[in-house]
Amino acid sequence: MADEVCERDSGELLASKLGTKEFWDEAYSAELDNFHDTGDVGEVWFGESSMNRIIKWIKNCPNIRKTSLFLDLGCGNGILLVNLARHGYTSLIGVDYSEGAINLAKSIAVAEQVKIKFLVCDILNTSESSAMCTGKKFDVCLDKGTYDAISLNPEDAKGCRVKYIDNVFSLLAAGGLFIICSCNWTKTELLEQFKDKFEFLEDLPAPSLSFGGQTGSTVTTLVFKARNT
Ligand SMILES: C[S@@+](CC[C@H](N)C(=O)[O-])C[C@H]1O[C@@H](n2cnc3c(N)ncnc32)[C@H](O)[C@@H]1O
Repeated sequence: MADEVCERDSGELLASKLGTKEFWDEAYSAELDNFHDTGDVGEVWFGESSMNRIIKWIKNCPNIRKTSLFLDLGCGNGILLVNLARHGYTSLIGVDYSEGAINLAKSIAVAEQVKIKFLVCDILNTSESSAMCTGKKFDVCLDKGTYDAISLNPEDAKGCRVKYIDNVFSLLAAGGLFIICSCNWTKTELLEQFKDKFEFLEDLPAPSLSFGGQTGSTVTTLVFKARNT
């Protein structure tokens, strides 16, 4: 699996409904109702182990302080930030373009009694994303599954990917860290796509799985550092 995780068309992923806002609005509307009815927080994308690997790396990183400013891009239900808050991180912001996701994340944060700022924001909309950070630059940007979703956009996926990379770079402080977790792109592909603006720092490997005679990871998690301009 390692180097052919997803079908391609001229190097781009095949478009999918997961690349549309309508899909996420519908999904989070159902998850919000479910949370109010049952207390179930909904899907933890790529599982708890992927989330825990990221948190462990952050905890061991000497350059990240408890007060470092974090931004979770496409935060969904916000569980990654809720867990960072539980580990004592205090400056946490989550954004998602789906209002339902933000309502769900806010409800979960209230129930968990943690302080996190959640905002509706389309990361691909440059003026929205720069207004959202209002002069702040982030020390750490997190992405678990959002670049994957953006890469599945049925309209101009490549343009969306390029815009995403530019916008994330502008949101980061000089030398800021970007941690991305993807199940659709391989390490080689991510290194190629991010190389102009980001320096590769580390791979947080998932345990290997074997299937159909091939061995590989289903999830790639990489840490990058914003290059100095
Ligand atoms: C696979 S889900 C991952 C959610 C969350 N990061 C997690 O790990 O549970 C992808 C998320 O990206 C969000 N998203 C996709 N495109 C976005 C955009 N342009 N701006 C903000 N959020 C976006 C979706 O609404 C969805 O919540």
